[in-house]
Amino acid sequence: MKNIPHDYYLRFTDPLVYERILNFHCQGNFIIHDATRHSTSLHFFESKHLEDLTGNELRLYPPSKSIISADSMTSLSSDLHRNESCDYFDKSHIDFDTVKQIVEPLTSRQHNSFKRGYPSAGALYPTEIFVCCLTDQALDWPCEERILHLLPNSCEFEAVRNSEDVTPLKISILTKDTDIGSPALAIVYTSFMPKTVFKYRYRGYRMALMEVGSMYMLTDLQVKKVGLQSRLWSAYNDTMLCKSIGINPALFLPLCVQFIG
Ligand SMILES: Cc1cc2nc3c(=O)[nH]c(=O)nc-3n(C[C@H](O)[C@H](O)[C@H](O)COP(=O)(O)O)c2cc1C
Repeated sequence: MKNIPHDYYLRFTDPLVYERILNFHCQGNFIIHDATRHSTSLHFFESKHLEDLTGNELRLYPPSKSIISADSMTSLSSDLHRNESCDYFDKSHIDFDTVKQIVEPLTSRQHNSFKRGYPSAGALYPTEIFVCCLTDQALDWPCEERILHLLPNSCEFEAVRNSEDVTPLKISILTKDTDIGSPALAIVYTSFMPKTVFKYRYRGYRMALMEVGSMYMLTDLQVKKVGLQSRLWSAYNDTMLCKSIGINPALFLPLCVQFIG
């Protein structure tokens, strides 16, 4: 397994395919922010319409006799049953040993194996994980830098340079409009796009999204196991978030944030 410079992938990437994917992705960027709050809105739907349109199931046919029960005997206490998303975080601190436990399903299964705890199309593993400490009370945090980049094969973290002050990060992910309390930790799932696009082209984008979904679900279950709570978050501006971590938004797409506390 070679350690190659991350921009080396661009040599093998079709620039037109890459540009089109990025242009499409940018259409979904979140622009509800202090700077644009007077001219932007999430939607204009009335709440009664939203109530009808959310949380329901899609029936393909009118109710008929050929309906088969899917009720099972599985207990709700099964490890595979997730908790509901946390509405308000009031836990201010998570031990660093617990942080390590939380990311454990995302690392290599065995020493000397490139296989990880989640599947990845073509074993490319294009998702890069940033573990961010959002609280001042984490006394056992191992370094001055508050953002750590996970190295899943080596089972190590590298400290993100100049991340001693996480105020810009907090401004980019914790919007004033929604009060969810104070999550102690944020995991930022970013997709390093050259890695997936060079091989799978347009389809690589789809597979990158699915990979992150499988990763945050594993983390969600692990968070439950260690007695904490989590909530996924997509209400942030990609460019602001990348800037606060110090990564290039044309290479790394921050696909989702997971708050933990
Ligand atoms: C990809 C993704 C992004 C999400 N982004 C947000 C968000 O920005 N803000 C929020 O309040 N909840 C967010 N959620 C949480 C959902 O609103 C929540 O999962 C849904 O209401 C179902 O509730 P439950 O998780 O408690 O079962 C997100 C969930 C997913 C899967």
